[in-house]
Amino acid sequence: MSPFLLTRTLPEDATEAALRADVLHGLTRTPKELPPKWFYDARGSELFEEITRLPEYYPTRAEREILLARAPEIAAATAARTLVELGSGSSEKTRHLLDALPDLDSYVPVDVSESALTGAAKTLLAERPGLNVHALIADFTRGLALPGTPGPRLVAFLGGTIGNLLPAERTVFLRSVRSLLDPGDCLLLGTDLVKDESVLVRAYDDAAGVTAEFNKNVLAVVARELRADVDPDDFDHVALWNREQEWIEMRLRARSALTVKIRELDLAVSFAAGEEMRTEVSAKFRQEGVRAELAEAGMDLTHWWTDEEGRFALSLSTAS
Ligand code: SAH
Ligand code: AVI
Repeated sequence: MSPFLLTRTLPEDATEAALRADVLHGLTRTPKELPPKWFYDARGSELFEEITRLPEYYPTRAEREILLARAPEIAAATAARTLVELGSGSSEKTRHLLDALPDLDSYVPVDVSESALTGAAKTLLAERPGLNVHALIADFTRGLALPGTPGPRLVAFLGGTIGNLLPAERTVFLRSVRSLLDPGDCLLLGTDLVKDESVLVRAYDDAAGVTAEFNKNVLAVVARELRADVDPDDFDHVALWNREQEWIEMRLRARSALTVKIRELDLAVSFAAGEEMRTEVSAKFRQEGVRAELAEAGMDLTHWWTDEEGRFALSLSTAS
């Protein structure tokens, strides 16, 4: 294998078709909603990286703390030769894992964001010229075909991104992850934990307004890709804690009554003044819930580590 391969598992027009279908479905239903994967064009990926450095956004720092402390244990428990990372983004925290895995042959970052993948690969290859990097531009909710790299395989899903899937989507997703693993292969899963509401809301409604810009970026994506005449300034960023579901919801609220014309869909979408459209859920977890969801998918939770303050957890499970 050459040291770097970039594979697009879906043709570009399939991505475009998926966006059209999601926008058509999401903006013609009540209440309106859009799936969070469309945040991540090049600008959205950049904004997410900015979010990770905000004082209010603790998950990245908390997860890095755990990775730094536990990487040797993860290496010993998994003996991984291939590390697959779903939603890898900048792969910034992953380097702590790459540094700790002595027998690693291949790294397979998987992301919908081509700009994030190429940016990450450039840095990784400069720093680790011997590592085989097989980057996949793919939607991890749509079934993955992985390259035939050597086992044992460790699949990492960091950052708490699993919380951006709805519960029913998580069930399907975890089963599909299990199908990528042979018995004894492992999943390393990052989950943000239930905590004080004010801490959570601040993390998703920061003082500098970066999360607001990230949220509104989905409108810029729809405007550009589907030729919609939407002005992001016509909407306000909303972040709220849904106590019953134990998730943060991000929404966009129309500042006044307005109509958005989406030329590629030949569609006009009306918003009432104050109408809200959900753009993301970010579920927060408890250990027993994570253990049960993994068991249901055929994986046994063997390790549960949190940061010192108990804000975020990294769990390791084995395919049974
Ligand atoms: N793992 C990194 C990045 C988290 S941001 C971290 O912990 O910091 C979430 C990442 O998942 C983004 O890079 C985004 O492009 C990617 N992503 C979101 N939905 C996706 C999907 N359905 N399929 C593949 N990648 C997705
Ligand atoms: C990628 N994901 C885990 C982030 C989260 O915290 O749910 C995305 C994000 N949304 C707003 N801020 C960050």
